[in-house]
Amino acid sequence: MNNPKRYLITSALPYANGPKHIGHLAGAYLPADIYVRYLRAQKRDVVYVCGSDEHGAAITIQAMKENTTPKEIVDKYHAMLKSNMADLGISFDIYHRTTAPIHTETAQEFFTALNDKGELEQKETEQYFDEEAQTFLADRYIVGTCPVCGNENAYGDQCEKCGTSLSPEQLINPHSTLSGKPPVKKKTTHWFLPLNKHEEFLRKWILQEHKQDWKPNVVGQCKGWIEAGLQPRAVTRDLNWGVPVPIRGAEGKVLYVWFDAPIGYISATRQWALDHKKDWKPYWYDNDTKLVHFIGKDNIVFHCIIFPVMLQLHGNILPDNVPSNEFMNLEGDKMSTSRGWSIEMNEYIEDFVKPENGGGQMVDALRYYLTSIAPENKDSEFIWKGFQDAVNSELVAIFGNFINRSFVLMHKLCKGKVPAFYNEIIDDKDKEMVKRIADAKLKIEDCIEHYRFREALFEVIDLARAGNKYMQEKEPWIVARQATKEGIPTPEAQAQIDNCMHICLQLCANLAIFINPFLPNTAKKMCYMMKVVEKMLDWENAGTMKLLSIGYSLREPQLLFRKIEDTEVSAQIEKLKQKTTQIKSMTENIESLEKSPLKPEIIFDDFAKIDLKVGTITAAEKVEKADKLLKLEVDMGFEKRTIVSGIAMHFAPADIIGKQVTVVANLAPRKMRGIESNGMILMAEDANGKLIFINPDEAVSNGSVVS
Ligand code: MF3
Ligand code: ZN
Repeated sequence: MNNPKRYLITSALPYANGPKHIGHLAGAYLPADIYVRYLRAQKRDVVYVCGSDEHGAAITIQAMKENTTPKEIVDKYHAMLKSNMADLGISFDIYHRTTAPIHTETAQEFFTALNDKGELEQKETEQYFDEEAQTFLADRYIVGTCPVCGNENAYGDQCEKCGTSLSPEQLINPHSTLSGKPPVKKKTTHWFLPLNKHEEFLRKWILQEHKQDWKPNVVGQCKGWIEAGLQPRAVTRDLNWGVPVPIRGAEGKVLYVWFDAPIGYISATRQWALDHKKDWKPYWYDNDTKLVHFIGKDNIVFHCIIFPVMLQLHGNILPDNVPSNEFMNLEGDKMSTSRGWSIEMNEYIEDFVKPENGGGQMVDALRYYLTSIAPENKDSEFIWKGFQDAVNSELVAIFGNFINRSFVLMHKLCKGKVPAFYNEIIDDKDKEMVKRIADAKLKIEDCIEHYRFREALFEVIDLARAGNKYMQEKEPWIVARQATKEGIPTPEAQAQIDNCMHICLQLCANLAIFINPFLPNTAKKMCYMMKVVEKMLDWENAGTMKLLSIGYSLREPQLLFRKIEDTEVSAQIEKLKQKTTQIKSMTENIESLEKSPLKPEIIFDDFAKIDLKVGTITAAEKVEKADKLLKLEVDMGFEKRTIVSGIAMHFAPADIIGKQVTVVANLAPRKMRGIESNGMILMAEDANGKLIFINPDEAVSNGSVVS
């Protein structure tokens, strides 16, 4: 769709269940933001909506993990995501949330409209139920052994170890995460969206109409779904967290999160319209609106199949495009918040965006690198060294360098003012440069309008590179030194210098316009240096040589980008490694706790029967023909004891002599391999099976009581 009357741009609503990483940023938010900033510079009518996805099992499970309520979880992470996105320059017109009342109303109205039209089917099904907790169980709430890899903690919808997607029926030994009991099947009624009835519509709309203009990977995935045969999809759930199903008798049921979340785009638009006294309806009903959904590839089926069917049945417009991205990996591995192998947006902000670390220019540095490696057609990879190289050898050495040299030379050779331009002495190099600027505009437009943001950005950098080359070939500083009279350049020489610097400065102004959608902080700084208002950044000004008026005095250059140091790179890699090992040992501890659950409760009197005392090992030797046993002599203060302990695989006898230990002193004697053992030594066993003595924090006298 070319030159539509208005645009409605959306980015996938992130679940408010935790921080989001820079892979999410690169996939669904940054490209949309670039597109929107470009459209705004074109003075198009554009609204960019997003918000937090606050329903579904993702939220309730996080609440369980953090031992709090879903409401607290969404409040906490909504605030975090909203501020992270703002800090990284994502310029939503509204960042809404799906727990807002206007959303409930919008989603319920949508459901009712479809149901009243007879487009939903009501069916009785059997669903897993937890009798102890008296609740139906979402697939995520059922765990069991994965039939594929044997992982004992596979979820009812997916095994996270081997990645297989599952249904709860396939789990071996399934049990509820709420009560730990095996779930039972129970009858319940749900509403279904019969996707199977809309296969023809989808075929025609995606596989014919949009075969050419949608990305091949998007069309390919859709084709796969359609070809596999579409099934009716349940759009309600038995849960107590979500948008209530607006039907009498459906108490305790809510809309499925993937039904209500995309309607969040509509409710966000409504809220935006209310806030700005605008009419929201044309954005969702008028065919002259271009609707574009920016998402990651795991969201394709929802945005290209399910939601469009809903929209079409409801009488809304359909998306014009769904430029989905592939995934971004990190240092050779999949990005994953739960494994700690990720750079969270809030971490990057903390480490780089604070004023003392660089502020806005470091936001732009990240935006630059992420765009330059955007996973537009295939998975890509974030490498810290690559980030450093991109910033140091492209942003600093090409773009920043050109702007800086232009300003420095203008101050030195042209008295700090935009010099005159003499058409009479224009040469081929000048002409070529002027044409290059006009061409760049067209190329960048074409790329951005077709969602090729990487290529558009490369064109901007290439233009700066051409500027450097032009300046290098013209060498105005040499001209200034050679053709002089009494130390001052001759009028002919000055005219040559002026022409070159005039072109360089107009190029600087053009570069500000071109870089603005990608690196808004940089563009702003350049406006300050040029003493122009941000209105200059309007796209229609680009491609011309009339941006800065002759005789206008400009400011001193400012540093646009700082270099990234080697130490910063190594610190980040170290941090990544630490995060993963920390999380790994934490999960191992939880797993081992699960393997050795708490024993039944005892009363104090039971405990008081055990006599624990501190002693010191004074001798230790291996027990013959018993690999695991050590015969120890322990000084208990009041007597010396022989204790046989199963620790021979863990300690060399010589290493433990002199160690203080805690002894169960009143344990009945027991014979092991013919040796009488009088007591037991307390040990802790960590997650990987290592044994550690339980001993007092400071040396105490032997025989001291432990209680
Ligand atoms: N919350 C979903 C996710 O993170 C995306 C929802 S997109 C919407 O994968 F369209 F449903 F809003
Ligand atoms: Zn598995």
